[in-house]
Amino acid sequence: MIEQQFIPQAYSNTVSQGTVSWESPSNIALIKYWGKKKDQIPENPSISFTLNACKTTTVLSYSKKEETSGFDFEVYLDGEHKPDFQPKIKTFFERVFVYLPFLKDYSFKIETSNTFPHSSGIASSASGMSALALCLMSLENQFAPEMTSEFFNKKASFLSRLGSGSACRSIEGDLIVWGENKTVKGSSDLFGVKYPYAVHENFKSYQDTILLVDKGEKQVSSTVGHNLMHGHPFAVQRFAQAHDNLAKLKPILESGDLDAFIALIESEALTLHAMMMTSMPYFILMKPNTLEVINKIWAFRKETGLNVGFTLDAGANVHVLYPKAEAEAILDFIKKELVVHCQNGQFICDEIGFGAKALTK
Ligand code: DP6
Repeated sequence: MIEQQFIPQAYSNTVSQGTVSWESPSNIALIKYWGKKKDQIPENPSISFTLNACKTTTVLSYSKKEETSGFDFEVYLDGEHKPDFQPKIKTFFERVFVYLPFLKDYSFKIETSNTFPHSSGIASSASGMSALALCLMSLENQFAPEMTSEFFNKKASFLSRLGSGSACRSIEGDLIVWGENKTVKGSSDLFGVKYPYAVHENFKSYQDTILLVDKGEKQVSSTVGHNLMHGHPFAVQRFAQAHDNLAKLKPILESGDLDAFIALIESEALTLHAMMMTSMPYFILMKPNTLEVINKIWAFRKETGLNVGFTLDAGANVHVLYPKAEAEAILDFIKKELVVHCQNGQFICDEIGFGAKALTK
């Protein structure tokens, strides 16, 4: 599929005003997207677990305007008007305008809220951008009611990617692949696809307890970090490694080999941070407590043989990953040993989810 196929034909319906609403989850990458070309075309493939509890709810109200000169929208977070969110959404509207040509014909009110605290250090771009893209697709669906649900999801993922790369992996669940590669048939740089091969019971209902180690604003944004992969001394090897890791993950997902799974995802997490530390300028997003947690996870795993592992995103927080069958003992360990390293003792219990839900379509 190529970009042009997302440019609509003339619409068959018109709509004067209304409201649509979606809730869309966050996701956690197992193989990381780090490095991109223009408009979030990824330098390498990634795969993620869709989450369940961490999500954004967005209500989009629209009413037809008299003139069609420019974009007209207001953004609210938890009921509060947020003019500082305006530039990011404006850039998004500009990028998607060719695919959603009705955007200048309406006044929009975008009301959004997250299930996780805004300043938790959990990125809301994946859930937030995908929720907005889904709302816009619901509106487009009213102009073009003949649209299939498969096309709806594909275009929602495509539009989400233009907002924030990782957002394209939040539309569906439970394992989503994004970025063209040889291992996954049908994979694309343009949108996320459901992982199409066998997945062992061990990976169903996988748990993700997110330890909020540092809730502060990140010193280096993901966008800046991605850009530092241009001319990075290890970029070529890293991008090749992500392809290799995806090929290695396929038999692991099929056989349920938890040791191999943990080794692969922990290596991916540490490689992501190694790329940050070896960028120019270099930077470190982990905090002392991130390392405390990692060392305790390793010691506990060695001592008990339980299948607890971790991954990291572009920040200090630790995602503790483990199978549901071992949840009781591992959650007990988290509460007794790891929560002391969280800011204000905060953590979020999440698990694999199955994608976004329409609230009003
Ligand atoms: C480390 O999707 O937040 O979480 O495309 O610039 O919006 P932009 O970046 P973003 O990058 C996420 C990077 C990551 C890894 C991942 O989710 O694959």
